[in-house]
Amino acid sequence: MIKREAIQKILEAARIEEVVGEFVNLKKSGKNYKGLSPFTNETNPSFFVSPAKNIFKCFSSDKGGNVVTFLMEHEHFTYPEALRYLAQKYNIEIEEEQQTPEELQQLNERETLFQVNDFAQKYFTNNLLETEQGKAIGLSYLKERSFREETIRKFQLGYGIDKWDAFTQHAQQNGYKKEYLLKTGLSIEKESKVYDRFRARVIFPIHNLSGRILGFGGRILVSDEHKPKYVNSPGSVIYNKSQILYGLYFAKNAIIKADNCYLVEGYTDVISFYQSGIENVVASSGTSLTSDQIRLIKRYTPNITILYDGDAAGIKASFRGIDLILEEGMNVKIVMFPEGEDPDLFVRNNRTADVIKFITGDANDFIKFKTRLLKDEAANDPVKKANLIRDIVETITLIPDAIFRTVYIKECSNILDIPEQTLMNELNKILRRKFKKRSNIPEPEEIPPVTQYQHIQQVGLDDNKSEYQEKDVIRLLLNYGMDDIIFEEKDEENNIVNIPVKVARFIVNDLKEDDIQFHNPVYQLIFEEYALALEKDYIPDDQYFINHTDENISHTAAHLLSSPYELSSNWIKNRIFVPIEKENLKYSMETSVLALKAKEIEHQISLNQQCIKETKNEEDILILLEEQKGLKIVSRQINSRLSRIIIK
Ligand code: UTP
Ligand code: MN
Repeated sequence: MIKREAIQKILEAARIEEVVGEFVNLKKSGKNYKGLSPFTNETNPSFFVSPAKNIFKCFSSDKGGNVVTFLMEHEHFTYPEALRYLAQKYNIEIEEEQQTPEELQQLNERETLFQVNDFAQKYFTNNLLETEQGKAIGLSYLKERSFREETIRKFQLGYGIDKWDAFTQHAQQNGYKKEYLLKTGLSIEKESKVYDRFRARVIFPIHNLSGRILGFGGRILVSDEHKPKYVNSPGSVIYNKSQILYGLYFAKNAIIKADNCYLVEGYTDVISFYQSGIENVVASSGTSLTSDQIRLIKRYTPNITILYDGDAAGIKASFRGIDLILEEGMNVKIVMFPEGEDPDLFVRNNRTADVIKFITGDANDFIKFKTRLLKDEAANDPVKKANLIRDIVETITLIPDAIFRTVYIKECSNILDIPEQTLMNELNKILRRKFKKRSNIPEPEEIPPVTQYQHIQQVGLDDNKSEYQEKDVIRLLLNYGMDDIIFEEKDEENNIVNIPVKVARFIVNDLKEDDIQFHNPVYQLIFEEYALALEKDYIPDDQYFINHTDENISHTAAHLLSSPYELSSNWIKNRIFVPIEKENLKYSMETSVLALKAKEIEHQISLNQQCIKETKNEEDILILLEEQKGLKIVSRQINSRLSRIIIK
């Protein structure tokens, strides 16, 4: 358990734009920052960060919250994991409350696996740099490949001792349980013997976006036909190969700066490039490229350059890659290395300036690349040529943007010397076929237009539940609690005077007078905090709730503060709506409070109705009917006040 004071300190120290900036390419936009949503696959940025409020809001996924919510959503951290991450980032010491043995045991499994991997990495690196065998075999191999020591340390490379169970033994002696050694895949159990997965290999740790280790790859040192060149960690609760890219942790800032990402095939390609100063490079490491991986890159740049070996496997892989990248609406260029050379060798054999010249100068867009490769093959064969054309047009149809498609059709027409119209016809044919296939899926429902009275129109939509109305009141409290609204009153001499009243005071007093309780317990807690503070003549600000040590309160507050108009899911329309609410604060507040009361009465009427149905005693029924009459009168009064305000 992390102590309350520590949580408070962490939340106060954390700057949301810094934390989110580690994962999303943010650009300043007025008082806020904006970027592409890391949660969806969008092309127009609708992800906002407000440093003033310490919150983020993603309009395309409707996620929003404070810095902790972001880490929980994005890194899939638990609440304590997110706090620990922040504590580490901001150098805040957390004295944990004494943990019982049970608590220790329950320490989240993911966290445990990360800790085991961290322990293993330190062990492997120590082997490589400090032991005789490691230095003689592992380190000399890496040096042979021109990896410098600083590079080796940066990428945290290591060495697995040539022994059946050196690591397993060492880990168990240090208190790491077999269960977790097996779950990370560092150890393997066979016929009740437990031994090491990585033996006599140099080790490449694989990092997540915050630098923690998800798994490892181990390269053999002497070529042996009977053994695979690389052994890799198996998938686990923390490691999913298809969702990570090797090197992205080290590359992300360089990718943003260069606005381009180089995609290579292997660990050693990444490291060689990085060492030579070309840092915007990642690898898909062995698995064929996935859409998830491409979207990871898209968070930082829309531009990818594929650098693959010029052998058959490399070409095939690049073809698949091109299609997937275009489908994501991103730009792709391709550089093929001469056969027998890979990026790693090329960097080692050439000066960096020449490497850069080659990978930028020889970068082809995908049409030039595909045609160049396929043209020779199809030279005098009309059938093959027709297939080639269809193949390229097929790829062009994957581009989501119609304008880009047209541009590429033009280029294709030039290179292949085929009339544009012919290609266009072919393209449309394929598109129609695709559309037909897709049109079985129902279109998403139309979003209703936003009106100034939207939150009123919602009354009565969801029958008994007053969740919506409760939320609206709390939302107003959090957003405008400290603002003044002006009431006009007459003094003794019949002069009109303006009396300012704080929004929080008005709402709290009004609801307390009618003894309204919130059904949602978190809203009730927030409401009570306001009531308590007001008694002491004080109004808490939004940061008080956003940084609240009660997780539920801080989440709810951050959510409501980041999405004041969440019912209208259209950001453009919101922008029109925003000033209206702020200007008509009195109106918004009165309608919101009345709507909640109306809802509450409605609720009581239906409860009463239920009682009437179930009661047998005639006398009781009469009393209940009398009550019902009273409730209905109040309900009518409230509703007519509501409509008077709305029509006014
Ligand atoms: P490469 O064979 O190109 O390896 O495979 P490499 O990284 O360039 O290594 P060197 O330069 O020959 O030492 C590309 C990637 O495919 C995966 C690894 O992730 C490797 O980096 N791979 C390859 C495996 O997972 N298993 C294998 O047996 C081979
Ligand atoms: Mn290689």
